[in-house]
Amino acid sequence: MPEKEIDTRALFGISYGLYVLSSRLEDKLNGQIASVVVQVTSDPIVLACCLHKDNFTTKCIRESRMFSISILEEETPMTFIGNFGFKSGRDIDKFSSCKCELTERGVPYTPDYSLAVIEAEVISEVDVFTHVLFFGKVVHAKVLKDGTPMTYSYYHEVKKGKSPKHAPTFGIDAGKIH
Ligand SMILES: Cc1cc2nc3c(=O)[nH]c(=O)nc-3n(C[C@H](O)[C@H](O)[C@H](O)COP(=O)(O)O)c2cc1C
Repeated sequence: MPEKEIDTRALFGISYGLYVLSSRLEDKLNGQIASVVVQVTSDPIVLACCLHKDNFTTKCIRESRMFSISILEEETPMTFIGNFGFKSGRDIDKFSSCKCELTERGVPYTPDYSLAVIEAEVISEVDVFTHVLFFGKVVHAKVLKDGTPMTYSYYHEVKKGKSPKHAPTFGIDAGKIH
């Protein structure tokens, strides 16, 4: 038997966090859960995030060229993650069930269960099959409170959370290699 070329268990060892990534389309404010967010440079500070092409948040970022990231704490309830991660802003107003604030540039974010908020301006985007990889230069960042950020593996292993199809890591049960 030939050895399987891609053993997806090898990918379980890559680490991610859990964030609410928010943006706006004119007056419509929206956000979604994102796990694939990473700092790629430090001078200037640039973040990359990967969003499914069909997500409403993707449309918002493409139009406004701005986004924010709320860094979620471990205590974040599953109902909160369900609101932002399993529903679309095309159908509901996700910010109606939580606090919503605006940055000086008018980018929405939620301070609920958030340890810090980071705001970025899109400098480029790359088409990656089903997703768009946005690069955003950080223009503002502030700490909201002390705490432990939730990791994607904590979400899977402790909270027993699942990921929907649009998550770039769909099907990858991050945490332990087994
Ligand atoms: C744990 C978790 C991680 C996720 N990570 C991502 C991600 O990194 N990128 C992405 O496009 N969608 C991700 N999603 C899926 C979106 O949050 C989901 O498709 C959302 O409903 C999109 O909402 P929208 O249509 O309002 O933008 C994730 C969802 C969960 C629950």
